[in-house]
Amino acid sequence: MSEASDPVFARIASRYDLINRILSLGRERKWRRRGVQMLPQGTVLDLGCGTGNTDFGTRRVVGLDPVVEMIALSPLPDRVVGVGETLPFRDDAFDGVFTGYVMRNLTSVNKTLEEAHRVLRPGGVVVVIDLGRPAKPVLRVLHRIGTALILPLVGLALARSPGEYWYLHRSLDSLPPPEELYRGHRLGLEEVWRMGMFGFVYGARLRKR
Ligand SMILES: C[S@@+](CC[C@H](N)C(=O)[O-])C[C@H]1O[C@@H](n2cnc3c(N)ncnc32)[C@H](O)[C@@H]1O
Repeated sequence: MSEASDPVFARIASRYDLINRILSLGRERKWRRRGVQMLPQGTVLDLGCGTGNTDFGTRRVVGLDPVVEMIALSPLPDRVVGVGETLPFRDDAFDGVFTGYVMRNLTSVNKTLEEAHRVLRPGGVVVVIDLGRPAKPVLRVLHRIGTALILPLVGLALARSPGEYWYLHRSLDSLPPPEELYRGHRLGLEEVWRMGMFGFVYGARLRKR
């Protein structure tokens, strides 16, 4: 394991899971589970696996993440330090690709989707779980005000890192809504579903045709 670490995730690695549980009021495992149910059996890539806290049942899982401090905490036996934009795997190697709360951190969503397409077998599935803003304009404004106030306070209280959680607030506006982000990619978008308070957590399923 030797690659430059993202200082944000490197700093919060040891408290990441606890803070997630608190911020989601204990619901993030359920959101993840719903995504995992959409994956085929077989071999799955957990892209941006972080601390490896997703339960994939009996599937064989390979975890990939660029941040050594995060991936070192993962219980997965197969772990690779690397980025989604250049995956160190052969073509058609996986039945499924799962990626949880990673999209807003990527250098290039498009390159990562292209790489996911390459490493998936034909008919293989990508499942994305991520955060965004609610679809309705009024809720979106209220949500923006809420995250600007709440996230840095939570970051200060729990991780002594208000800056990292201000970054999370800012990142929520960094990408278009999922219907727009994934539409038109050669990985065909099959479904988008909303979860969480005001629907600010989304899941998306795409398939290699
Ligand atoms: C919010 S955490 C999510 C971790 C885990 N997937 C989860 O569900 O808890 C985002 C993760 O994306 C990773 N990440 C950042 N840039 C990445 C990239 N270019 N390719 C793959 N993973 C990346 C970070 O290191 C971090 O572990």
